[in-house]
Amino acid sequence: MDDILREGDPVLRSVAEPVKLPLSSEDRETLECMMQFLKNSQDPEMSAKYKLRSGVGLSANQIGVLKRMFVMFSNDEKGRIVEHAWVNPKIISHSLSMVYLPESEGCLSVDRPVQGFVPRYESVKVKGYNQDGKEVTMKFKGYQAIIIQHEMDHLDGVMFYDRINEENPFKLPQGVDIRSLYDQKK
Ligand code: CO
Repeated sequence: MDDILREGDPVLRSVAEPVKLPLSSEDRETLECMMQFLKNSQDPEMSAKYKLRSGVGLSANQIGVLKRMFVMFSNDEKGRIVEHAWVNPKIISHSLSMVYLPESEGCLSVDRPVQGFVPRYESVKVKGYNQDGKEVTMKFKGYQAIIIQHEMDHLDGVMFYDRINEENPFKLPQGVDIRSLYDQKK
């Protein structure tokens, strides 16, 4: 956890630079380390041993590497593992409908609890490169789409709480089809 930058560090507020392709072996190793961190953080034994906070996404600038790349590791609603490294990702299209996590979002760079709703697109289509430098286009929805938008924000120096309504943290945007991630679609 000591290698993870915390809020207040200017690197987290900087816009990350595009990664040069083909991917250097150093960048590839960085992605592998980041992915290993997420896996360890979700492993009860490892996380207890190294006092890790559990995370499902990590962007390179969170470890001080100002490059446009991030990793994600979690399970989808059917329990399947979703494991991806993204290099120079772009959201090329998204739903109009939005979702939010009722418990708000968490971040390895934020040690305090933050309350409030963070509006996110319900689904996003992402185009970028994987850890082998191969071009990839994939669609994600629900929780995975939230992770992607949270990590993509990091690459632009945006923190999740920037998107919470300042006056009322539980106020949702008006004129938008938005629901809790756990509510059934109408
Ligand atoms: Co974060």
